[in-house]
Order: sequence, then C-alpha cells, then structure tokens
Amino acid sequence: METARALVAGDKGLLAMDESTSSCNKRFARAGISQTEEARRSYRELIVTTPGLSECINGAILYDETIRQQKKDGTPFVKILSDAGIIPGIKVDIGAKALAGHPGERLTGGLDGLRARLQNYSKMGARFAKWRAVIALSHGIPSRGCIEANAQALACYAALCQEVGLVPIVEPEVLMDGEHPMGRCREVTEEVLQNVFAQLYTQGVMLEGIILKPNMVLPGLTCATQETIDEVADTTVSCLLRVVPAAVPGITFLSGGQPGKLASSRLNAINVRFKARSPWALAFSFARAIQRPALEIWHGEDANVSAAQQALYHRACCDQAACRGEYDAAMDEPMLPPGLIGGT
Ligand code: 13P
Repeated sequence: METARALVAGDKGLLAMDESTSSCNKRFARAGISQTEEARRSYRELIVTTPGLSECINGAILYDETIRQQKKDGTPFVKILSDAGIIPGIKVDIGAKALAGHPGERLTGGLDGLRARLQNYSKMGARFAKWRAVIALSHGIPSRGCIEANAQALACYAALCQEVGLVPIVEPEVLMDGEHPMGRCREVTEEVLQNVFAQLYTQGVMLEGIILKPNMVLPGLTCATQETIDEVADTTVSCLLRVVPAAVPGITFLSGGQPGKLASSRLNAINVRFKARSPWALAFSFARAIQRPALEIWHGEDANVSAAQQALYHRACCDQAACRGEYDAAMDEPMLPPGLIGGT
C-alpha cells in the first residue's frame, strides 16, 4: 500500500521504458538507429541518467533486458534509479498472442513460472510490476471471451505480485485504432474495467495496493468526429467513476500513441476538472508521449545525449504540470532567443 501511494505521490507519474526488444528495435529502425543490444543499453542509460528526472517521475518501468543492464561505468540501472529516488518496476507479461477461436483478438501471456520470476525481480530491486492486456475494438469485437480471459489473467498476475510484495500495475488497454466514435470506446472501456475489478475481487487482490493503468476514453483515430479536450476529460472520468473503486490509490493513464502535447493537454483537463473531487490520483505512465522527442533527437549519437535528455525532462515536466492542472500549451512553444522576446 505504501509503495502504491508512493508511485502517485506529489503530482508525479511513471515513465514506461519497458519496450520489449522487438518493440524497441522497431522504434529504433523508424528513427534510423542501429538495432543492437549496445544501442538499447545506451538509450536506456540516457534515460535513467537524465538530470532532474525524479522531480517529475516517481517510478520507471523496466524490461527484462534493461533491469539487468548497467551504465558504461558498471553502475546498475536499478541503483541509479533508486539513488535518484525513482522506484524501479518491471514489465512481467510476455506479450499478447492470438486468442484461439477469436479472430483479431489477443490474450496476454506470462502466468507460467511467474511466481519464481517475480521473486527474482524483487531480489533485483523491483518494487512494482506491470502487465498489459490489449483489447481491440472493431465490428463485433471485443468478445466476452476476450474480455473475460484477459481480466482473469490480469487478476491472477496481480494476486501473485502482492504475494511477493510487489505492487501490480493493472493495465487493460482499449486500443484507439479504428473508426469508432468515442461513445463506443466509453462502453467498451466501462465493460472491460467492470470485468477486471470483478476478477480482482474474486482473486482477493487488495485494491489499496494496486495502480490502474487504463486508456483515456477517446474517439477512434480515424473517426470523423474528434471531441474536444474537455469532452475527452469529462467522458474519461465519468466512465472511471462508475467502475473504479475509491480504494484504488492511483490511476496512471497510458498514452496509447497520442502525441505528447495532446496527451499532456488531456491529462491537464482531467485534473483541472476533477482533481478536487477525485477519489484517486490522476497521473500518467507514458512511454511514447514522454520519450518520442528524445529518441528522435538522440538518433544514436553520443553528441546528442544532453539535448535528448533535456527533451525528455521537458516532457516529464509538462506531464507533472498536467497532474497539477497547471499545464499550458505555452510551455511547449519553442524558446525564443532573449533578443527576440518582445520583438516583432
Ligand atoms: P504508451 O504510453 O506509449 O502507450 O506506453 C505505455 C505502456 O506502458 C504500454 O504498455
């Protein structure tokens, strides 16, 4: 319970840096960066050594490869994070695989042998874990079979985490790909969360010791109607209020591929409108929405490390401001050289 509260304390959030090797390689390939273990290590070193990161970030989610890696000078990443006051966490699912009998749907795996893996990660210094279920939205899906299988797996994972003293981050992601209107995302998100909390209850999971990591309720990416930031904030929180028990200490949204500034703006509107009366902290656990500019600037070159770290720190600060309801798009305006301020 103490760790769960610490993960969302002080209007800070989480940094997801737990891309699997194949996801990380895909992002590197798109950015023109070589897809080697050393490139992945260097990039993660850049992230964990970013000056000031702990001012905005309470916890960092690592991947199996990353939790075993060190800085060039041999200092383990876990020690760098812990010394900076950032709680190390670990992604423990092994990814979403095709669900038998349900074309287009997936079930997240990783329960076999999980108890021993969690014990091992705990010895390595992890204090929380993450498991992501993926729910696609299209004609005729999601099915009950997909929702129930994923909810049950999430609950079994959460119970195992609590057995070894790790805080489970429970992440049921309703994807934003598709043409569906926002109302459909709301219906599905509500149904998924209802099932997840029913299963958490059935498996005896202590709700005071979990963090929920949901999607924001959004219109499909290619839907013709795109609601305003305030409408997204209202729909997201009114959906969550119906299904997330007040015992849960924190909700940390995933970004799901939203551009960084839009994710900050939406999180900001959520807090402006609901922070004062929300039973849970409303924070973030972003990967792409925090990392994207930094990855592009770095481009695999040592000479760009400092500029990339500044970009990472900047996005994390914007998201912390959003947790306070104090983010302003002006924070993202390019800085003018002093001589030009007030000029034409
Ligand atoms: P995004 O913020 O890029 O969606 O990633 C969050 C995450 O951890 C997905 O599991």
